[in-house]
Amino acid sequence: MSGEELLRRAHAARGNAYAPYSRFAVGAALLCEDGRVFLGCNVENAAYPVTCCAERAALFAAVSAGARRFRAIAVSGAPLGQEPGAPCPPCGVCRQALREFCAPKEMRVYLDAPGGGMAETTLQALLPESFGPENLAP
Ligand code: THU
Repeated sequence: MSGEELLRRAHAARGNAYAPYSRFAVGAALLCEDGRVFLGCNVENAAYPVTCCAERAALFAAVSAGARRFRAIAVSGAPLGQEPGAPCPPCGVCRQALREFCAPKEMRVYLDAPGGGMAETTLQALLPESFGPENLAP
């Protein structure tokens, strides 16, 4: 699946965002090595820190369905009622959560580019010198 198609799925997933407090809606689409795609949106809570980001919602849905290996994630965010027109990079917690299951140099991250189109980066670029499972059992 192309990065553009994965980003379109992230845009669609944004439609389910529950974001009454920040009013910032985020969608994520996570591509597994076996071709499955899992979607997530941010789910906020009246007790604010309980909020789950779209990326972790997608990741936890995927792992809960038995997926463990991923190729790429697309993320799209913007204020409610607006079309995304700028990148919404994953927060630090989500970068680390993804790191658990991904080779950082291989894992593609697709974002909205400023002013339209798509930007591409890697988990390695977003989270260099990261700590992963192999650090616990070298
Ligand atoms: N959010 C995400 O879902 N993913 C990100 O990468 C950045 C932030 C959510 C959390 C919160 O519901 C809202 O966006 C504002 O921070």
